[in-house]
Amino acid sequence: MQMIVRGARLHTGDGRCAPDLVEVRVEAGRIARILSYDAGAPPQPAGTVVEAHGALLTAPFVEPHIHLDTALTAGEPRWNTSGTLWEGIACWSERKRSLTREDVVGRATEVLRWQAAQGVLHVRTHCDVTDPSLVALDALAEVRDRVREVMDLQIVAFPQEGIESFPDGRRLMAEAVRRGADVVGAIPHFEDTREDGVASLHFAFELAERAGLRLDAHCDEIDDEQSRFVEVLAALALRSGLGERATASHTTAMGSYNGAYSYKLARLLSRSGINLVCNPFANLGLQGRFDGYPKRRGLTQVRELLAAGVNVAFGHDDVMDPWNALGTGNPLQTALTGVYAAHLTGTREVAAAFSMVTDRAARVLGLGDAYGIEEGRPASFLLLPADSPFDAVRRQVRPRYVVSHGRVVAENPPAPALLTWPGEPAEQVDFVRRRDPAPWRELGRG
Ligand code: FE2
Repeated sequence: MQMIVRGARLHTGDGRCAPDLVEVRVEAGRIARILSYDAGAPPQPAGTVVEAHGALLTAPFVEPHIHLDTALTAGEPRWNTSGTLWEGIACWSERKRSLTREDVVGRATEVLRWQAAQGVLHVRTHCDVTDPSLVALDALAEVRDRVREVMDLQIVAFPQEGIESFPDGRRLMAEAVRRGADVVGAIPHFEDTREDGVASLHFAFELAERAGLRLDAHCDEIDDEQSRFVEVLAALALRSGLGERATASHTTAMGSYNGAYSYKLARLLSRSGINLVCNPFANLGLQGRFDGYPKRRGLTQVRELLAAGVNVAFGHDDVMDPWNALGTGNPLQTALTGVYAAHLTGTREVAAAFSMVTDRAARVLGLGDAYGIEEGRPASFLLLPADSPFDAVRRQVRPRYVVSHGRVVAENPPAPALLTWPGEPAEQVDFVRRRDPAPWRELGRG
């Protein structure tokens, strides 16, 4: 055997765990066997034997929405002082004039290294193609090849400044697909008119269908309750048959829709099968900027959509760029922020937030049999020092081991605090609640 992990608690998806500990055997980069764990049985010979001691074994984190071409450019050439989406687009428009291949490759690779170290092994990045040179797209395609051994990268042809409203927008989108984009994007709410927005979605769907690609549009990323392109996207996904291969990202206007319209829309979204991606960091920062008090949260209707059976995932979106000057690409930080931003504070809902950066995000990318802890699938997984998904989100743990195709690619040694309390010897503090009963400990088991 190439590797054996003994005594792990298996995350089976949707924030739930198997009731008993397991042993996972890896051979030739794939999961060969998953067995019940017998603590008394002598370990089988293997290249690597990991004693998990009940740690959580999960399929890798999945980043469903990031912008690697803009990452790490905050403050260049100037800061976004208004904090709005629109000034961010203006800052980026100035910065992208100085893009070079080396510049994009260097920044994108740096963020991917941060993400891999934190257990993210599947990434969907948007890439601005409203640039006649398409230099960022070519650079990200190069990065995609370079990192393939460790992680998968999907590139979305993203028309930041519009398809209909940008000179030669349609040709640039088609050219981006010809040069190897994996997913077709759109930005209907940014187009000059409502009609342009609808036309841009028709164009994007036709392009995706013709090329056999998925579609992921920045959709209704505005506080305007009249921005309703998500209904157009869902209807086109339903009628074209693209269904779950289509995704609406952001949809922040949905945070302002009235109850009657929201109810009608939820039915359409559910029937269409499309995915939604909520990006809590960026949109908590960007939305509500034109509001007096009370200020809106400006996020999509996460709880309601989950209840309606719609697949929703959480994305990081921006990392140190004109729209979000902070961030390390950490998916559990995204999940925790999403928990508070979207009122997912019920114990089951916290576990669901874990799923929104793992298996739910994997559905957005369409990973299928390439993802998940099952015999025959790639041996790509994490060992998290946590007893449940709830615990992982609460304590913001880093993966003890990140395994990609049977190989350990990152390790995060435990780093507890050393506390000296009055009258007591120094002790390590790791924020585990050891007192029983712990009512949430059994949650999600089975
Ligand atoms: Fe985005």
